[in-house]
Amino acid sequence: MQILDIETVELIDEISALRIIDQTLLPGEVKIIDLKEIEDIWQAIYLLQVRGAPAIGVAAGFGIYLAAKKISDDLSYDDFYKEFVKAKDYLNSSRPTAVNLSWALNRMDDLVKMNSDKTVKEIKKMLHDESVLIKEEDTAMCKSIGEYGLSLIKPGDGLLTHCNAGQLATSKYGTATAPMYLGYEKGYNLKIYCDETRPLLQGARLTAYELSSKGLDVTLQCDNMVSALMREGKINAVFVGCDRVAANGDAANKIGTSGVAIIAKHYGVPFYVCAPSSTIDFNIKTGDDIVIEQRKPEEVTEMWYKERMAPNDIKVYNPAFDVTDNDLITAIVTEKGIAKAPYTESLKELFKK
Ligand code: MRU
Repeated sequence: MQILDIETVELIDEISALRIIDQTLLPGEVKIIDLKEIEDIWQAIYLLQVRGAPAIGVAAGFGIYLAAKKISDDLSYDDFYKEFVKAKDYLNSSRPTAVNLSWALNRMDDLVKMNSDKTVKEIKKMLHDESVLIKEEDTAMCKSIGEYGLSLIKPGDGLLTHCNAGQLATSKYGTATAPMYLGYEKGYNLKIYCDETRPLLQGARLTAYELSSKGLDVTLQCDNMVSALMREGKINAVFVGCDRVAANGDAANKIGTSGVAIIAKHYGVPFYVCAPSSTIDFNIKTGDDIVIEQRKPEEVTEMWYKERMAPNDIKVYNPAFDVTDNDLITAIVTEKGIAKAPYTESLKELFKK
């Protein structure tokens, strides 16, 4: 069985579990884990066992359903809702940057609020169906992004990507990788260049792994090799995913993305951000309002090394994401179409908000 045949995030309702691939172990070990307690789901998101904005959203949808399922059917609506909100707020605290987390939780919350006249049992059934729908919609959005993205590339292109915005970050196809998979199926003979993506190596461990296991032509490079590649003319376009797009098109994605965009602009390489609507946050005007997750120093100084590779008491700067300014982005590829600057207008037009 190939890695892409395994569901990234799955609800196993019969045993009340969220089933995921533990992504911290890839590519060395493919381990499927079942999470039954809300604390385990929180931890899995926090530790990046399940990661990537859309996959986090899908996991949160299933997670809050499973938490709600545990609440007694005998409670009044108000008491049920109190417990529900407690679980929702808890899950929402697992990671701050990907808006898909709160987007999915708020969607489930809205459903509960709209159905205050129903029994707890009926509400649970609705939460189940909604969580399944969130996943199905994610797959459909990724597919559509793939089709729009494909219109931006031509056979033989060299495409660069950063981090993992692949199937492992979504329910299927990925966002930035969706046009790559589609191009592959159409015989485009694409050459994919994956940034290693320090410090957690999502590019090396996940993107290079999932694309090459499907048979795509993949080359891995360290993050600091992007300008050399572009100067040599090897890259025709950059495709990246994102964790939160502000209304003006500023886009937060894995740390290092904005540097790639700056280099791409220098060499005249188009830079595309792939964003399902679940990643677009119309409530914030610009990227300045995006909360950037700061992670542990050990990810920089120790992780992956046989021994510590920095002085013991060194100060470490380790933001997990950065914001790419909208003027560095050639286009934002969504499931509804391709948005170009000015993004405040084009995104609003696409989603009619
Ligand atoms: O910290 P991670 O691995 O969750 O970061 C993931 C990314 O930055 C992805 O590019 C982003 O979530 C888009 S996934 C389609």
